[in-house]
Amino acid sequence: MHPIPFNRAAVTGREAEYVTRVIAEGPLHGDGPFSRACHEWLERITGSPRALLTTSCTHALELAALLLDLKSGDEVIVPPFTFVSTVNAIVLRGARPVFVDIRPDTLNLDESRIEAAITPRTRAILLVHYAGIACEMDAIMSIATRYGLVVVEDNAHGLLGSYKGRPLGTFGTFATLSFHDTKNLSCGEGGALMINDTRYVDRAEIIREKGTNRTRFYRGQVDKYTWCDIGSSYLPSDILAAYLLAQLESHSVIQERRHALWARYAETLAAWAVNAGARLPVVPAGCQHPAHIFYLLMPSLEARTALLAHLRECRILAVFHYLPLHLSEMGRRLGGLEGQFPVTEDISDRLVRLPLFFQLTDADQSRVIDAVMECGRT
Ligand SMILES: Cc1ncc(COP(=O)(O)O)c(C=O)c1O
Repeated sequence: MHPIPFNRAAVTGREAEYVTRVIAEGPLHGDGPFSRACHEWLERITGSPRALLTTSCTHALELAALLLDLKSGDEVIVPPFTFVSTVNAIVLRGARPVFVDIRPDTLNLDESRIEAAITPRTRAILLVHYAGIACEMDAIMSIATRYGLVVVEDNAHGLLGSYKGRPLGTFGTFATLSFHDTKNLSCGEGGALMINDTRYVDRAEIIREKGTNRTRFYRGQVDKYTWCDIGSSYLPSDILAAYLLAQLESHSVIQERRHALWARYAETLAAWAVNAGARLPVVPAGCQHPAHIFYLLMPSLEARTALLAHLRECRILAVFHYLPLHLSEMGRRLGGLEGQFPVTEDISDRLVRLPLFFQLTDADQSRVIDAVMECGRT
C-alpha cells in the first residue's frame, strides 16, 4: 500500500513554462511583469485596491505591523490558536499580543470576548479566518469602529473565501495572504499584503523595497531612488511570481477539486462523527470557505492520539495544529498560563487535519475515509 501524504502542492501545467520565460527574458528580481500580473489578479479577484506580493505571509504580517507603527506599550488583540507568525509580527515591533480565546464552533476569535480585552493601549485586532471560514466580521468591525481600532486580517487560509458575499481580506485596513506550499495556491514560499486603505499604499511600497522609493523609480515617477523610510526586502523574485501566476490562473480547477474532496469528507463522515463523538467543521450561514482545511475534532486527546496512530499504520499522514501560543515557551515568557484560554487548549488537543490536496485521488480519499471509520469502531 502506497503512503498517502498529508499534502502535495498542486501543479496544473503552466508553472514551468512561465518560469522558463522569466529565465529566458528576465528580469529575475521582484516586481517584474509576472509580479504585476499577480498583483492585478489579486486585486481583481478580491476587489482590494492594492496587492503587493511578499516573500511570505509572515513578511506581509511584519509589513502590516511596520505600517501601523506598532511600538512598545501598544497592545494587539489576537487569538492564541494560530500560527506563530501572526504573533511574531506584533512582538517584533515591541508591542504586546493580548490573547482572546476562540469560538468553539468556528475556531475563530470569539467576538463576544473582545471588548473585555480592550484597554487604552489597544491599537488593533489581528484576526485569523481559520480554515478560510470567516470570523464574525459584522460584530468585529463594529467593535473596531466603536473603539477606533485597526483591523488586520491574517487571511493565510482564506483567499477566495467570503462573508455575506464579501471576499475575505477586504474588511481590514490590511489583509495578508500565504502562498506557502501547504496553501491552495502556492509558489513554495510566498505571500501578499492586501491594502484596503489606500493611504498606506505609498509607504507600503517603500517599506517593502528596503525603505526606498525604488517602486516609484521603476514606474518612471522619479529619476533616481533613495532611502526614504525604514524598510526591509519583502518582495519575491519574478521567478516565484511566474510560478504563482500559473497557479492563480488555474484557481478554478484547483478549487473545484478541493471543494469536491472537502464535500465528500463532510458527507461520508457525518454519521461516523455522531457515533464516534467527533465533530466536523462548522460553516455558519453566509460563509463561503475555500476548502483549505478539513478537520475532525475528536472527543479527547486519547481518541486523537489513537486516530493518528491508526492512520499512520494505514500509511496515511494526518496532522494536528496549533499548539496554544500562550503555552509555548515564548508565550509563557509573556505571561501565558495553563487554563487561561480553555477553548484553545481543548481544541488544540483534539483537532486532526485530514489529507486534502489537488492530486488526492478518489481511491486514496476512500482509503482515508475507511481508515477514519475503522478507528471509530475500535
Ligand atoms: C494563520 C497563518 N498565518 C500565517 C502563516 C504564515 O505563512 P507563511 O508560511 O506564508 O509565512 C500561516 C502558515 O501556515 C498561517 O497558518
